[in-house]
Amino acid sequence: MEDAGQKESVPVPKERSYFRDNPPPKTLESHTKLAKAFISYHVRSNRDVVMITSGGTTVPLENQTVRFIDNFSAGTRGATSAEYFLEAGYAVIFLHRQFSLLPYSRHYSHSTNCFLDFMTEGQNGEVEVNPEYQQKMLGVLRKYNAAKRENKLLMLPFTTITEYLWELREIATLMRPLGPKALFFLAAAVSDFFLPKDRISEHKIQSSDNKEPVTNGSSKSETSAGPPVGHGKQLKIDLDPVPKFLKMLVDGWAPEGMIVSFKLETDPSLLVFKAQQALEKYAHHLVIGNLLSTRKYEVVFVAPGEEEHWIRVPVHRRIKSVTAPRPDMKALKDEQTTEQEWFRG
Ligand code: PMT
Repeated sequence: MEDAGQKESVPVPKERSYFRDNPPPKTLESHTKLAKAFISYHVRSNRDVVMITSGGTTVPLENQTVRFIDNFSAGTRGATSAEYFLEAGYAVIFLHRQFSLLPYSRHYSHSTNCFLDFMTEGQNGEVEVNPEYQQKMLGVLRKYNAAKRENKLLMLPFTTITEYLWELREIATLMRPLGPKALFFLAAAVSDFFLPKDRISEHKIQSSDNKEPVTNGSSKSETSAGPPVGHGKQLKIDLDPVPKFLKMLVDGWAPEGMIVSFKLETDPSLLVFKAQQALEKYAHHLVIGNLLSTRKYEVVFVAPGEEEHWIRVPVHRRIKSVTAPRPDMKALKDEQTTEQEWFRG
């Protein structure tokens, strides 16, 4: 029989212990303040607000980070979608990977041209936009300025998976007063595995060419659950699964909001099945599936109680597929053009 004073230890769910064990980013407080003001403003004006997540999350291998594992995403889907949501009248919270593509500036920031190639020197030594680009740039500039003037675009950056999750939880909770006027459009590429805080080395992981300092007569070697350490020419990393937080968006953080999430696969035979599985598991309103190699011109919509529905850019309007994990500059320019086709299609 159990001792009366002895309490049965109740395991803390992984989703809860994650936030206890992995501290919030330094920026959380200032981002929360900005998001709170932004959301209150739009609650007062009865406007729909979408939080778009965009870009890949990193998993740092060291606290003073030299190396990290990255997730593929240039931010094209998120940044382009933000522009279309703004055009449709939404206010947009753009939670994005730092230095990934941003709405409006994406037309120039990662182009084949250096941004200076869009400029020219006027007759009196003033800097002007090259006449070739004037018209398009004016259109983009007007839309960008309108979004700023109307306080309809809030851009908040993250880098690591932990930063992303803290920000997602905080902002989703702040969006609760919007009720069904809140939309979540989760296009970020989110790490499935991570290195918990207590197993991250403080300093740069050393290769075996460097002798480790010896303390108290024993080498500062790792245990299997210790920080990653080089073995000969190998580096062994023991990653934990990232708890599945997407269900919490529905159950706890933003129960009334509409949730659209993305599912990325590389094997065509798995895509629809995995998207359906995600829909069941997370109870979102829509899961959009895409394959890495064809994501620019076809996606599949999977919604509860409905047949899967493919949206495709017609073949004659496609630009050659981009499969490189980090697209080169030429590929990025192609991507921008094809992305416009996708949205029009
Ligand atoms: O930015 P681009 O270059 O245009 O590319 C766009 C994109 C391919 C990154 C985008 O369209 C896309 O598919 N985003 C989702 C990528 C992703 O993380 O999918 P995944 O199936 O690998 O997800 C892994 C796990 O992360 C899921 O099981 C889910 O639990 C979680 N997840 C997924 C998406 C998300 N937004 N949040 C999550 O927490």
